[in-house]
Amino acid sequence: MILLYFFILIYVVIIAYFNLKYPELRWNWDIINDSNLKFPKNFFWGTATAAHQVEGNCENNNWYDWENSVDKKGLPRIKDNQKSGIACDHWNNYKQDTELLKKLGVSHYRLSIEWSKIEPQQGEFDQSVLNHYSDLISYLIKNNITPYITLHHFTNPLWFDKLGGFEKKSNIKYFKNFCKTVFSIYSKEVKNWCTINEPEVYSVMGYFIGIFPPGKKNPQLAAIVHRNLLIAHTEVYQELKKMKNGDSSSIGIVKNVMQFDPARRWNLFDWIACRVSDLVYNEMSFSYLKYGKIKINIPFFIKLFYEDKQAMKATDFFGLNYYSHIHLKFKFDKHEFFENVYPKNDTMTDMEYTIYPEGLYRAIQRVKLIGKPIIITENGIADKKDDRRKLFIRRYIYAMLRSIKEGVNVKGYFYWTLMDNFEWAEGYDMKFGLYKVDFENQERKLRDGSKEYIKIINESN
Ligand code: BGC
Repeated sequence: MILLYFFILIYVVIIAYFNLKYPELRWNWDIINDSNLKFPKNFFWGTATAAHQVEGNCENNNWYDWENSVDKKGLPRIKDNQKSGIACDHWNNYKQDTELLKKLGVSHYRLSIEWSKIEPQQGEFDQSVLNHYSDLISYLIKNNITPYITLHHFTNPLWFDKLGGFEKKSNIKYFKNFCKTVFSIYSKEVKNWCTINEPEVYSVMGYFIGIFPPGKKNPQLAAIVHRNLLIAHTEVYQELKKMKNGDSSSIGIVKNVMQFDPARRWNLFDWIACRVSDLVYNEMSFSYLKYGKIKINIPFFIKLFYEDKQAMKATDFFGLNYYSHIHLKFKFDKHEFFENVYPKNDTMTDMEYTIYPEGLYRAIQRVKLIGKPIIITENGIADKKDDRRKLFIRRYIYAMLRSIKEGVNVKGYFYWTLMDNFEWAEGYDMKFGLYKVDFENQERKLRDGSKEYIKIINESN
């Protein structure tokens, strides 16, 4: 009997500890005044895209192959067998699309350049493609739009994938070579660089869940790929900093932060599922950037230790991509240990997550511990009906402003995304765009809900 009481006591203490340490923040929106959001003078506003999602004709990368392949059961990889195809034809429409940026009133544009187009074969750089990006960059600058260039946003050239992609640490040199080449060409005009977009999403989706290429389901390999991407970031950062214009450039990593909250706050198994997920998804990058250390030991699944003190703080800014949190519920099933559940009073987005502005505040509180300026490099909602976008925009931006007022150095915000585009495994079904795109004729139309963004930009200073 005493032993039973003892176990109950221990259980209660552990649960109380988790509850206190990881509260699920909730604000009472009925009493919050989120009208008239004033920002510091130098705060900047932008919007973001990625090459494969908007440019069209990306036919030499791993995603093209993935879109054109089937799984073991013969089923297509992308919802309804959709292909990225010509996408928004941003390649040819970038001048009109610059007008869209100007109409929003943003001063910054985050875009990625497509490695597979620039270096179609290992060591062979396509001059016409390099010229295209030069034109695009100059055009943006001429129109007073500051570019933030992402060097890697999920896609690899096929030749790089054939060599094993980021599964092999020794392949990082190929990526470094690409980065140095483009930096030497564009760094005179481009002052802001994002190295890798979302190492955790790339590795978890591609190597753990298996719905991104290469479709593997191997937790240990997922962790290795994640680590290699972090190392790639550090090495690229160090190399570019040594180059001409390196000193005057701002170079940072972009990480997605998602909170894992337990479905039942009294259930120890739910808590374990959350803490383990957080370790692999979030803490791994945080500890790498903050202490230069990776330490993961999840018996039977992942064992990974890595240390490089040089990695500590080797980033000029922290690019934070934030969308939402998820609730995990543990289940006894040998194939899947937990499932996502959604609190019934919360509003869903069209993606499998809810609207949770408090989460952006929480994410910023955590990121600030790295001690670097923060830029919100992505934040947005998939909302086909356009009946939640307005509320989403105001509340998330309010949450960000609240952190700034408390003294956190958040320098700018990029809304994801400029226009509807190819949403990876979801194809074209997810409508994240500020502008609605008619893919029959490439017409763009500002959504009503997006006007809230314009309003906020106007009232912000
Ligand atoms: C990615 C984007 C994607 C967005 C919305 C982010 O994880 O960087 O490419 O479209 O989320 O799902």
